[in-house]
Amino acid sequence: MKTVIEPYRSRVIEPIRMTTREQRERFIREAGYNPFLLRAEQVVIDLVTDSGVSALSTRQWSAMHNSDESFTGSRSFYRFRDAVQRLFGHAFVIPCHQGRAGEHLLARAVVRPGDVVFANTHFSTTRENLEAAGAEVRDLPIPEALDRTNPHPFKGNIDLARLEAGLAEAGNRARMVILTVTDNSRGGQPVAMANLRAAHDLCRRHGVPLWLDAARFAENCYLVKLREAEYAGRSPREIAREMFSLTDGVFMSLKKDALGNTGGLITLDDEAWAEAIRVHLLSSEGIPTAGGLAGRDLEALAVALDEMLDEDYLAYRIASTRRLGEQLEEAGVPVVVPFGAHAVYVDGRAFCPHLVDEQLPAWSLSVALYVHSGVRTWETGNVMQGRQDAVSGVWRWPDFDLLRLAVPRRVYSRSHLDYAAEAVIELLARRSSVRGLRFVYRPPALAQFVATFEPV
Ligand SMILES: Cc1ncc(COP(=O)(O)O)c(C=O)c1O
Repeated sequence: MKTVIEPYRSRVIEPIRMTTREQRERFIREAGYNPFLLRAEQVVIDLVTDSGVSALSTRQWSAMHNSDESFTGSRSFYRFRDAVQRLFGHAFVIPCHQGRAGEHLLARAVVRPGDVVFANTHFSTTRENLEAAGAEVRDLPIPEALDRTNPHPFKGNIDLARLEAGLAEAGNRARMVILTVTDNSRGGQPVAMANLRAAHDLCRRHGVPLWLDAARFAENCYLVKLREAEYAGRSPREIAREMFSLTDGVFMSLKKDALGNTGGLITLDDEAWAEAIRVHLLSSEGIPTAGGLAGRDLEALAVALDEMLDEDYLAYRIASTRRLGEQLEEAGVPVVVPFGAHAVYVDGRAFCPHLVDEQLPAWSLSVALYVHSGVRTWETGNVMQGRQDAVSGVWRWPDFDLLRLAVPRRVYSRSHLDYAAEAVIELLARRSSVRGLRFVYRPPALAQFVATFEPV
């Protein structure tokens, strides 16, 4: 059979409220032309993120009913800890309420001003947390990752030659190397095991720890299985175990691949670092056997650490995202290829050639798509990553200005995604009608969440 079906069925449904174009024009104006500031009920299909929005399984609900909400030392924590240790294999397990909280704890605990941190690409919150602790962060993507149309199967790889030179130059200022799997900021592209192994060897030689930002490691592992010949016969779990065995530690948002509505994790081998992190944990997130999570959250996550690596689920997930991407590509929409797993990315600058960077092409496209169809998306581009020089006022724009259609896990059906594809394709036919926007309010950091705009 050619049709890849969802390997689950629905038993609970959540109605979607339909809206008219006129209503949506008003909603987005009232939200300052920022789709983040819309109420969720004003959205028809929500592809703004794949984070914290997964549908829970019957097994997860069942475990949640059985949770232990004791203040400390709950049975639910130990179930979570054991599931983490079985999979990741590191000695210490520190829960926290979401990914960026873990990044904050790690940065505060181990980074000193002047340290250098290398990554394929730091996710925006990781960058903010490391820089706030005084680190200099360096992104080292491979050159192929900078070409939207290059079909390289592992555009999430780190540039090993530049990493080696950087480690040698930074000397004992090199604090850690991070591989973001998959590389969300550059199109959800995976990292090859061969690249991870080579990065591991370089780190060992220079005595620098290798960490993963593992928010989407299961999807990365399945793409390794599909694209890296040596791993074709291995299960996603086996690939994951090998991946983690090459690392000194992992920080992870548990709201993506780990199918959690909330949750974060740090797991590592270094006892001194674990102690330092726990000190900060106690004053910010919570006690070491909860990290700000309820027992029922820990239960849902413990089950998900098993479900997320299910091969039928991962095969379906990759196929459904690829189908969305192929529909857009065939219609001539400028997409990032090859397709990752959690999202399809559209090049805002190529879609809207009539807009200059200051007019925020991908953000403007996101607003136009919402007005046209009620589909909400996320920009990872000029608004999220653009930086203005404090003295000269000159803007530095990122390599890519992308619109991301993120696919929540186990939530939308094939017809929902067909609707989203149709909306983008219809907009392509009238792309010159997409109006540019400019900032009205821009906060100093993480602008996308609170900034407001007006049409140019
Ligand atoms: C790669 C990556 N790292 C870290 C984070 C931050 O995680 P959280 O949203 O749970 O704080 C995200 C969120 O999108 C992410 O994609």
